[in-house]
Amino acid sequence: MAEFSMDDLMFRPGLMQGQRILITGGGTGLGKVMAEACVMLGAQVYICGRRGGVVEATAKELNEAHAGLAGVGHCTGVACDIRVPEAIAEMIDTVWADGPLTGLVNNAAGNFISRTEDLSARGFDAISNIVFRGSFFVTLECGKRWLAQGKHASVISILTTWVWNGGPFTVPSAMSKAGLNVMTQSLAVEWGNRGIRFNAIAPGPFPTEGAWARLNPGSAEADGAAPPPPADPTIPLGRNGEMRELANLAVYLLDPGSAYVNGQTIAIDGGSHLGGGGFGRLAEWGDAEWAAARNAIQSANEKDRAQRTV
Ligand code: HXC
Ligand code: NAP
Repeated sequence: MAEFSMDDLMFRPGLMQGQRILITGGGTGLGKVMAEACVMLGAQVYICGRRGGVVEATAKELNEAHAGLAGVGHCTGVACDIRVPEAIAEMIDTVWADGPLTGLVNNAAGNFISRTEDLSARGFDAISNIVFRGSFFVTLECGKRWLAQGKHASVISILTTWVWNGGPFTVPSAMSKAGLNVMTQSLAVEWGNRGIRFNAIAPGPFPTEGAWARLNPGSAEADGAAPPPPADPTIPLGRNGEMRELANLAVYLLDPGSAYVNGQTIAIDGGSHLGGGGFGRLAEWGDAEWAAARNAIQSANEKDRAQRTV
């Protein structure tokens, strides 16, 4: 089912007409909602994933859902496993046959929670070959063509806030995303003067079937039997992210309207990664707790004062 109406988007109809965007992993979850926003705003969008049936069904769904919209774009599904460099080259050749891309979203990922000591080499590779190697090779295949043809483009990578503060029990994902964070900064400088800019988005929790099945395994919500759980109380804004908020940020970074933004990783997490040094939970206190704390601190101060000799 399509997610958005134009009221969910911050932008004018037709904003992305003439843009051609590839979104890896665009058949589901966050990739799908970014694809939907781009199509609604007039872009030609390509989505890829290993499950050809899923990307084709999503493309059909998005095209049908917004068929009547003025200036609407179009979505095409392409089956591709980004762990295979030859498959990437073939996909990019196919896409380029219709014209050069103007934007790329590195969104495809694999993840699961595991104690790090339980990981096998294949388990580590299962994640890093998608996120770290796969995203790099997609970027490289596009980048070589943009440079050779002198084309401008915007690349965004979907990371996590773990790139700043680590990801216990998700170490292969956190390491791989951190690598993409450095790719973003490095290529922003290396290719920036040739019109190719790089930015990244670090989302907090946005409930999706794919993420919840691997990060909250066995829960009713991961099995699709219950709605997503209430937000983690430590999130300063007190709620999970909304899909339209993520989609609006992605459109902003893809569009030439943000042309001077380069090399940035933008968190969209309600402020969670800042943590507040552990004091964030004090937001739950009321007058009684603050009065009790003040009294306790003042009696500790008085005790110390009584022992002072100067
Ligand atoms: C330990 C595990 C494991 C687990 C798999 N493996 N799951 N090890 N704990 N839970 C090991 C297997 O035992 C095997 O190693 C190796 O990984 C490969 O497993 P396969 O099942 O053959 O892998 P494959 O079919 O290639 O699937 C890749 C996958 C899978 C990454 C494991 O989860 C996948 O396809 N994911 C795609 C979608 C996804 O993950 N979406 C969530 C993104 S969410 P051995 O040695 O036994 O052979 C996200 C959120 C971030 O990133 C932030 C939220 C706030
Ligand atoms: P998702 O629905 O599981 O999306 C992952 C997508 O990647 C799937 O469509 C999957 O399709 C595709 N994919 C996986 N391996 C691939 C491969 N080898 N080649 C091509 N495509 C591949 O999960 P999501 O929650 O939307 O996650 C999307 C992105 O957001 C990820 O980068 C994730 O790390 C990031 N993120 C999500 C959250 C959140 O709360 N949801 C928070 C922070 C960051 P196939 O299985 O068909 O290949």
